[in-house]
This record gives sequence, structure tokens and C-alpha cells, in this order.
Amino acid sequence: MEGFRHCAVITGASSGIGREFALQLSERDCFVIISGRNVQALEELRSEIGEDRCEIIPAELSNTRSCIDLYASAKKYDPDILINNAGFGLYGEFTETSLSKELEMIDVNIKAMHVLFKLYLKDFVKKDKGRILNVSSVAGFMPGPLMAAYYASKSYVLRLSQGIQTELVKSGSKVRVSVLCPGPVDTEFNKRAGIEGFFKGIGAFECVDYTIDKLFKGKGLIIPSLKIRLIALGAKLAPAVVAAEGSYYVQRGKKRLEEDV
Ligand SMILES: NC(=O)c1ccc[n+]([C@@H]2O[C@H](COP(=O)([O-])OP(=O)(O)OC[C@H]3O[C@@H](n4cnc5c(N)ncnc54)[C@H](OP(=O)(O)O)[C@@H]3O)[C@@H](O)[C@H]2O)c1
Repeated sequence: MEGFRHCAVITGASSGIGREFALQLSERDCFVIISGRNVQALEELRSEIGEDRCEIIPAELSNTRSCIDLYASAKKYDPDILINNAGFGLYGEFTETSLSKELEMIDVNIKAMHVLFKLYLKDFVKKDKGRILNVSSVAGFMPGPLMAAYYASKSYVLRLSQGIQTELVKSGSKVRVSVLCPGPVDTEFNKRAGIEGFFKGIGAFECVDYTIDKLFKGKGLIIPSLKIRLIALGAKLAPAVVAAEGSYYVQRGKKRLEEDV
């Protein structure tokens, strides 16, 4: 994008972490392309950022065709950063959660993330320039009883990103892929998942502020907050059954918001 140092495509920019990425990247000489379904929220964000610094491309990412359309519509801006952030969680016993909601979650958290990751990485590798940030979670390090499909989806994001990081290094590419694994962040996430949080989260500003420098430096794994880095380390070292006990304890402590379930 002419006149700007970078151009970033940000999914899930209508709220929470994605919204904060749009605000903070635009302050770093970045033209931002913001995506989501809530067009009113995207328009408000665009007014806040400045109409000449931001473009809106709405997309329903549970639909693969829309992911490809988003990529195609953003192409003329020649993006060099992808913030692959859209996602949501679902709470409950596996035998009780809605299958259709779970499949939608898999479509957004895994399929859309995968499609956009691949399309952008191919372009970036060709230009030998670019940064991709895939948003996983500390949940990606462990089994997650009571949110099992969500945890598993974030494990896919983490492992796919780590595998591709090595491919890029081995091929001598200058492109870098980072994976963000936050613990609780104070956003709409819990409400959408139909729960009230157990731990107090960090703010979205703090999460993104911590992440952006590391993203530009090409750091592979980004975990904001020391406490969550220790939890991730514990989960890596502990047998899966022990890690599952720990996450069961955390998930069981969450309160279900009946009206959203
Ligand atoms: N908050 C946390 O505690 C936490 C912790 C670890 C990881 N994460 C991850 O961080 C990412 C961002 O979540 P958040 O905390 O910022 O939650 P959020 O405030 O609920 O934001 C989620 C974003 O994803 C978008 N989205 C959801 N479904 C979509 C769909 N079908 N099509 C297009 N966009 C869709 C939403 O946009 P629309 O509503 O406009 O569709 C929204 O902008 C997620 O991947 C989440 O798993 C969050």
C-alpha cells in the first residue's frame, strides 16, 4: 500500500484482540484491512483509525468461499502482514454441546485460519517478505475437558504454525510465522463461549502491545504474561492426563451464562 510502511489484513477485527491489533498496527505506519461480520463495529473502528488508513472487507469465515473472497479482495493492497485472529470457544460436556456450533467453530478456528495462512504464505514466500501471526491460545498446549473441541482447535493452530516455522527457516526464507498463545484476555470471548471467566484476564491492549514488537522481530512463539508462560511450560512437561486434570479444574470453575448456551 503506497505511503505506508506495511499493509496488514486482520481477521476478527470487529472486537477484542483483533480490534486492538488494528488500532496499534495503524499507529505503526500500517494500512489496515479489517474483517469480521459485524459491519457496524468495523465502520466505527474505521472512523476511529481514519478512513484513509483503513479498509473494511466483511467476511463470514465459517464459509471457505468467503475466506478466498477476502484474500482476493485484499490483493490489490498488496498486504505483507496477516493477523489470523478470528475465532471463538464453546463450553460444555462433549455429549451436550451443539454439533453444528462445534462444526462452525472448527470451520472458523481451523479451516479459515488454515486457508488464509496458506494463501498469504504462498504470496509472502514468493516476495520473500512478510509476517503472519496465527492466534492460538495457552489452551493449545493441553487437553481441555469441558472445552475440549476449542482446546483441540487451538492445538491445531499451534502445531501447524510451528511446523511451518521450521519449513521457512530450512528453506532460507525471510518470511516469519508467529503464533500467539495468550491466557485469558478481557474481550467478548467468554460471553460468546457462554461462560463467565475463572481468572481475571489481561487487557487486549496489553496483549497486543506485548505481541507487536515480537511479531516484527519474527519471534516464533509469543506468550504474553509470565504466569501463562509458566502454565504453558508446566503443560509441556506434565503427562497429558495431569494437564487435563488442571484444565478440568479451571473449566469447572467457570459459570455458565444460561442465556448464551
Ligand atoms: N479472550 C481470550 O481469553 C483468549 C485467550 C486465548 C486466545 N484467544 C483467541 O483470540 C482470538 C480473538 O478472540 P477475542 O478474545 O478477541 O474474542 P472476541 O472479542 O469475541 O472477538 C472474536 C472475533 O472473531 C470474529 N469471528 C468470530 N466468528 C467469526 C466468523 N464466523 N466469521 C468471521 N469472523 C468471526 C468476531 O467477529 P464478528 O463478531 O464481527 O463476526 C470477532 O471480531 C480468538 O481466536 C480466540 O480463540 C482469546
